[in-house]
Amino acid sequence: MQRTFSIIKPDAVRRNLIGHINQIIESSNLNILASKKIYLTKIQAETFYEVHKGRPFFESLVKFMTSGAVQVQVLEGEDAVANYRKIMGATNPAEAEEGTIRKLYAESIEANSVHGSDSEENAKIEISFFFSGSELV
Ligand code: CMP
Repeated sequence: MQRTFSIIKPDAVRRNLIGHINQIIESSNLNILASKKIYLTKIQAETFYEVHKGRPFFESLVKFMTSGAVQVQVLEGEDAVANYRKIMGATNPAEAEEGTIRKLYAESIEANSVHGSDSEENAKIEISFFFSGSELV
């Protein structure tokens, strides 16, 4: 069993897609271990996406991620990191496979509806950024 971290981004929350996206997640052998709706502060968004600091899309990304509520979640299952990345689809929805969350719902490469950790190591860091141990049951 492995855990990964997911964000349902403001574009998807605004369009009431949390249930639709979680239906895809739950029907893909992933258990939603924890889930909460929050507003990211500018500092939280900048820190979370620090690895992209200096890239041309960084400021716009921070603005987008703080433009509305997000749903942060911890998912658990076999090969959860790779499994969730597969069902999310490519970062750019134009390149995402049919049936993936981003192909179905993303509006653009920025407003791409969901985030998922890219490794087990980063999943642990990202989960602990938003959830305390007692929230993970
Ligand atoms: P995410 O998987 O959350 O990781 C970084 C985010 O930056 C990405 O999804 C997109 O929302 C956003 N982004 C905007 N432009 C780009 C780009 N050209 N390449 C990669 N990510 C981008």
